[in-house]
Amino acid sequence: MTDITMEGAGIIIVGGSSGMGLALARGMLAEGARVTIAGRSAERLEAARLTLGDPADLKTAMLDLTQEEEIAAFFRDCGPVDHIVSTAADIEGAYQLLPDLRLSAARRVVESKFYGPLLLAKYGAPRLPPSGSITFTSGVAAYRPAARGSVVAAVNAALEGLVRALAVELAPQRVNAVSPGWVDTPIWNFVAGDAKQATLEAMAKRLPVGRVGRPDDIADAIRFLIGNGFATGTILHVEGGHRLI
Ligand SMILES: NC(=O)c1ccc[n+]([C@@H]2O[C@H](COP(=O)([O-])OP(=O)(O)OC[C@H]3O[C@@H](n4cnc5c(N)ncnc54)[C@H](OP(=O)(O)O)[C@@H]3O)[C@@H](O)[C@H]2O)c1
Repeated sequence: MTDITMEGAGIIIVGGSSGMGLALARGMLAEGARVTIAGRSAERLEAARLTLGDPADLKTAMLDLTQEEEIAAFFRDCGPVDHIVSTAADIEGAYQLLPDLRLSAARRVVESKFYGPLLLAKYGAPRLPPSGSITFTSGVAAYRPAARGSVVAAVNAALEGLVRALAVELAPQRVNAVSPGWVDTPIWNFVAGDAKQATLEAMAKRLPVGRVGRPDDIADAIRFLIGNGFATGTILHVEGGHRLI
């Protein structure tokens, strides 16, 4: 039981065209929320809209989190909003050992997972009611870094610091993050390429829960953070026990 209802609530999900964000959109729509999914690719947004059954309560919006003007304009025009979520990440080309790491790829991780969320809070928080919330997505790499993942590990840790600071600055609005473990989503095409399935299966065998995550596992955690009025500054770890191994 939680104290904040989703019925009629306005929820923006940046990254809602894929993976965890798409699962969250499906769940929020089922609870009667008005959902806007946002991302860079019109094709992915359209595919997501069709996947979700083209419901009347769903809107799509082109938005690139690396562009401050786009974020400012988005919030000028977005209508009533109660909760903001970002599951966005641009990690293409960023999983490299240092000799092969290009700063441009590293910058895109920082811009999509740190400055983007910072700007979402800057322009979005003034649109939220006092009971509103912001939820970001960090990740287990901050706690169990792997070779090739240094930039993602560092950005996840930085985002968690930002969450705690914003929870203080924006109060009584609440600011939280979910920290997923390894979850089977399209992002793994960038991380592991053809080795995606083998990599995920090997991790499933190591994890205490015996499987990797599903997008719904993380959507459920974000739902908790949005709906629980006593949760702020919280990093909610949902990772199948990954930090224990
Ligand atoms: N999957 C995992 O195993 C895992 C583990 C730990 C943490 N995470 C984190 O969990 C979050 C969700 O991951 P996922 O697996 O659901 O990823 P995903 O399936 O690849 O979805 C990422 C979403 O972000 C959007 N996006 C990327 N760059 C953007 C930008 N600059 N502006 C706006 N939207 C942007 C993408 O759409 P467009 O490309 O069309 O913009 C897409 O909708 C990410 O923050 C990821 O780092 C994932």
